[in-house]
Amino acid sequence: MTQEQKSIAVFDSGVGGISVLRELVSLMPNENYVYFGDSLHAPYGTKSIKEVYQLSIHNIEYLMTKGIKAVVIACNTVTSVAVNDLRDNYVNMPIIGVEPALKPAVLQNQGGRVLVMATPITIQEHKFSKLMDTYRTMADIVPLPCGGLADLVEQGEITGARIEAYLEEVLAPYLEPKIDAVVLGCTHYPFVKESIAKVIGYPVKFYDGGLGTAKETRRRLEQKGIRNTNDKQGTVTMINSLGDERMIDLSYELLGMEQANK
Ligand code: DGL
Repeated sequence: MTQEQKSIAVFDSGVGGISVLRELVSLMPNENYVYFGDSLHAPYGTKSIKEVYQLSIHNIEYLMTKGIKAVVIACNTVTSVAVNDLRDNYVNMPIIGVEPALKPAVLQNQGGRVLVMATPITIQEHKFSKLMDTYRTMADIVPLPCGGLADLVEQGEITGARIEAYLEEVLAPYLEPKIDAVVLGCTHYPFVKESIAKVIGYPVKFYDGGLGTAKETRRRLEQKGIRNTNDKQGTVTMINSLGDERMIDLSYELLGMEQANK
């Protein structure tokens, strides 16, 4: 197998990173992908930095046994605590991370109120404070740690009473004055965008880092000359550490693919 034909590895603490995978597949459908969801250890967003780093190393080591040419960290939490160390550790492997899409949200809503929903770790981390410092004079940026929200998505709770009850509780204190934009700063959250919109109850704009990450991945592959030049539809292999077939079914469902692609 040539380097070009190798797979792009994508990983997350669970099924959330599939929101990034779907952007990758839509932008580069001819590439092959191997997705690893570490649902056994989810959530990462409330663990210690050391634990998240060790789990990330473990995930990358495992993915390296699958014939891969690049790693996409489809997790804001891992990116915020470990991306630099992981790049130092794997110097020959392109590693692409995802971060909260604060820049477009602020630039398109200057003077407005921008709510950033993310895991407690992402919001506490230095990387996020630095990002906030860059834009804080341009908008009223309100960080909102959402411990527990990724767990609901892991359980397939995308719409309905349970997710709405959770969202009503966390969002209630922030709905007035009116929010202009919501940054979905955890890759699990794009799947519950409709529920968030329903609970907010007035029009807001949503931003997530999925498409930006997919474009950056394409740029890095092109730069290294390892884009797949084959024009056939590529494959998607789903792996989940829980070893439960229902997680694989949920994964394909979130990707919006037929089971026949398994
Ligand atoms: N999907 C992850 C993120 O983007 C982490 C969710 C979690 O495991 O807490 O931050």
